[in-house]
Amino acid sequence: MSDSYPALFQPGRIGATTVRNRLVVPAMGTNYASEDGAVTDQLLDYYEERARGGAGLVVVGSTGVDGTRSNAIARQLRIDDHRYIAGLSTLATRIRNHGAAAFIQLTHAGGGTTARKTRGETPVVPSAVPGAYNASDPHVLATDEVADLVEAHVEGAARAARAGFDGVELHCGHGYLLEQFMSARTNERTDRYGGDLEARMRFPLDIVAGIRDRLGPDFGLSVRLTVEEFVPGGQEIDESKRVATMLEAAGADVINVTTGTYGSAPQTIEPMRYEEGWRAHYAAEVGSVVDIPTIAVGVIRQPDTAASLVADDVAEFVAVGRGHISDPHFARKAKRGEADEINRCIGCNIGCVGDGIFSHRPMGCSVNPAVGREAEFAATDPSPESQQVLVVGGGPAGMEAAVWSARRGHDVTLCEESDELGGQLSLAATAPGKGKIAWFTDYLTRQVDAAAVDVRLETRVDAELVRDRDPDAVVVATGARPRSLDVPGVDRDHVCQAWDVLAERETVEGRVLVVGGGGVGCDTAEWLAERGHEVTILEYADRLAPRKEVISRLAMLEEFGDRENLRWETGCQVTEIGPTGVTVRDADDVETTVATDSVVLAVGHARDATLADELEQLPVDVYVVGDARESRNIDAATDEGTDVGRSIGAPDPVFTPRL
Ligand SMILES: Cc1cc2nc3c(=O)[nH]c(=O)nc-3n(C[C@H](O)[C@H](O)[C@H](O)COP(=O)(O)O)c2cc1C
Repeated sequence: MSDSYPALFQPGRIGATTVRNRLVVPAMGTNYASEDGAVTDQLLDYYEERARGGAGLVVVGSTGVDGTRSNAIARQLRIDDHRYIAGLSTLATRIRNHGAAAFIQLTHAGGGTTARKTRGETPVVPSAVPGAYNASDPHVLATDEVADLVEAHVEGAARAARAGFDGVELHCGHGYLLEQFMSARTNERTDRYGGDLEARMRFPLDIVAGIRDRLGPDFGLSVRLTVEEFVPGGQEIDESKRVATMLEAAGADVINVTTGTYGSAPQTIEPMRYEEGWRAHYAAEVGSVVDIPTIAVGVIRQPDTAASLVADDVAEFVAVGRGHISDPHFARKAKRGEADEINRCIGCNIGCVGDGIFSHRPMGCSVNPAVGREAEFAATDPSPESQQVLVVGGGPAGMEAAVWSARRGHDVTLCEESDELGGQLSLAATAPGKGKIAWFTDYLTRQVDAAAVDVRLETRVDAELVRDRDPDAVVVATGARPRSLDVPGVDRDHVCQAWDVLAERETVEGRVLVVGGGGVGCDTAEWLAERGHEVTILEYADRLAPRKEVISRLAMLEEFGDRENLRWETGCQVTEIGPTGVTVRDADDVETTVATDSVVLAVGHARDATLADELEQLPVDVYVVGDARESRNIDAATDEGTDVGRSIGAPDPVFTPRL
């Protein structure tokens, strides 16, 4: 066995706790708790798998100290009553049994709560600063209510200790209550909890001192600290360094250095376009003024990156957040020299955030369908009998279906019409800021190979081929085809499809109008703008990319705002394409002609139903998955492909063939 990443796999210390290596699973809320905030089996299985995967420290995600009004997410854990101790103690044991240290994050979301939307509760804040919070019309905490909340945090820590956790983490970041008190932008109080930095720090410092007082020197105490808020007038690193020294003096064991607040989500849970480790230097800055260790975070996705941050003394510990959602065995694989086997998070934010916790739904993962279903996946049995399975289409849905059915003992052939696997992943990876998508294509391709799937490239499948091969089951994963526009002039030579531009099958000249400002239209427009074209997007809806994952959309608009050669018009409909211009009708039915040299169509795509329809009459089990079933996001493709692969020939399938 190779001795991989020695810097990463040396033990470290957080206060009195020895941590077996430098990899941290940072706090991430899952929405797997019960309605009332109790531990569930789903939550236990999720955390246990991350501990089993080898991380040194697992921090359980935000846990409420003050009823559901402290909830950051809808189904959040709570620690504000003794009735929660039993479940939390099972959780601590399930993490610690695997050798990981277990901390739990104490959170009060304050004005960042979701409880207004999900439960009609009134949020509490330090000061009623307009626009500063997720929730409006808040209650401004009275002085004695703040003192009560100090006690609520200390009580929470005491319950965590009773439950068997090694420590707690105080959430002083991401726009939640403690950060709201610490930041001059959101704290306009004139009582003992507002004013100069010392006064703004009184609330968190009283908690730190209170926890130390109650639980002694050996109980672990991490502080998750936003050191840059990235909003006008927000907290900045220089003052945050002073804050860190104050927290250290009060008794903190480690500073978990993060960034972002309400209003700067792209700098908190970065979308795909952010570089690996782009904000780790903040940990080094904090580390330069404190003697306790620091934890760096933010798009740390590969063991190489993590190891060099530790080896270069940027931070003593590195947090790999979404990278542990996508692959709970990140640490184990890295240590064994199997870094190539890690399913790296691509940062799409769809399964975990956009369609997950931000939508009040359980956390999922576009590249790891097993997340939140750990027990179910662990129990995936081989098929009682081996079947001949023909998978048609080598995109994510087809590859997942092929891998999972082959792993279960079927004899699988995967046919792909083009000369490479990847499908729409390959196309998407060419768009600006989306190169990480290729990580997932590489991962799936390796899994296809390891599962000994018989891959036939440049092979088009029709009903006749299916009849000849006579398989037991066919998985139709033929994806989607781009739609066209039904307007005069759409056949002109200077009109082409966005997919063909990204794939470099078509070239465009001069000024370009991109018709359609959804995800593909925006990607293509940015791609063309990067190449120097004057680009205008024409979008029918009243805003660009309305269905794009919300954080990625914000980051995209920030980027677009910086580009002089990229403009967009919304609320307009193209009615005709002429030789030198496009006729556009606006919301008031006024038509104008916009001059252009080229027109690129990005007006959506529709399921490719050709093969599915052809197979309608054949006596074979047909499963239709991914975009071939209905054009959607990547997470639907991977989920369905996986579930079909796990279902073929299973006694209790979660997916049944089309009737
Ligand atoms: C689904 C999800 C839930 C999160 N919940 C929390 C949380 O409860 N507390 C917290 O401090 N940070 C939370 N975060 C932020 C992460 O801890 C981490 O700082 C962030 O994802 C950036 O790190 P990464 O690039 O390694 O994912 C959450 C992130 C995600 C994706």
